[in-house]
Amino acid sequence: MARLQVNIDHVATVRQARRAVEPDPVHAAVLAELGGATGITVHLREDRRHVVDRDVEILRRTVRTRLNLEMAATDEMVDIARRLVPDQVTLVPEKREELTTEGGLDVGARRDAIARACASLAEAGSVVSLFIDPDDAQIDAAVDCGAAAVEFHTGRYADATSDEARRTELAALESAVRRAVTRGLVAHAGHGLTYWNVRPVAAIEGVDDLNIGHSIVSRAVLVGMERAVREMADLIDRASRSALS
Ligand code: PXP
Repeated sequence: MARLQVNIDHVATVRQARRAVEPDPVHAAVLAELGGATGITVHLREDRRHVVDRDVEILRRTVRTRLNLEMAATDEMVDIARRLVPDQVTLVPEKREELTTEGGLDVGARRDAIARACASLAEAGSVVSLFIDPDDAQIDAAVDCGAAAVEFHTGRYADATSDEARRTELAALESAVRRAVTRGLVAHAGHGLTYWNVRPVAAIEGVDDLNIGHSIVSRAVLVGMERAVREMADLIDRASRSALS
């Protein structure tokens, strides 16, 4: 049965918009866990544009479910992950100029570096997953590199604009999950999943974790807006009344 890992990067994005202390992604992680998340995901990017080292360090000590750290396979990131030992490390491609992770890793093209990172992270005690497109060659390369798991990029499915294209992309995901599981990998999926498109992916047999961020944080902002405004309005109202009395 598919489980939900909540990606809280966007909470850190709002904080960094002001270089302030709130909203704290550590608080968001606690609330996500209270809401039923079975894991918390953060992406520590090389440029620290949202999540920063302090977040990962505190989350490592406070997350009660599973902490999944997304990162590039660089020496700096491998050193950080080896020190903190998240429950899972997901290796992702990273380009400075991208808005979000745009495609899966080309595992074959970086086989040596990825295999080295997989061995080093597994030796430290993390489960290593590779974020890849639903593609047979990438699955086989992930096995060759010694990864324990893969996360299939669901972006093409999420971006499909017709029912036929969606069916095609869903079939590609189903077939990729089957191949991964047959080859001994744990299969996860994520990227671009929303309240509207998640169900067919959650129903794929063999999918373990679904990693979802943008859609959940977007909804949290909206469902929380009314209460947040009411609380501020009440505060102002009470202060104005006490000034008058
Ligand atoms: N999985 C990976 C590897 C990602 O990089 C991201 C985006 O940070 C996600 C899942 C979550 O994607 P979204 O924010 O679109 O739900």
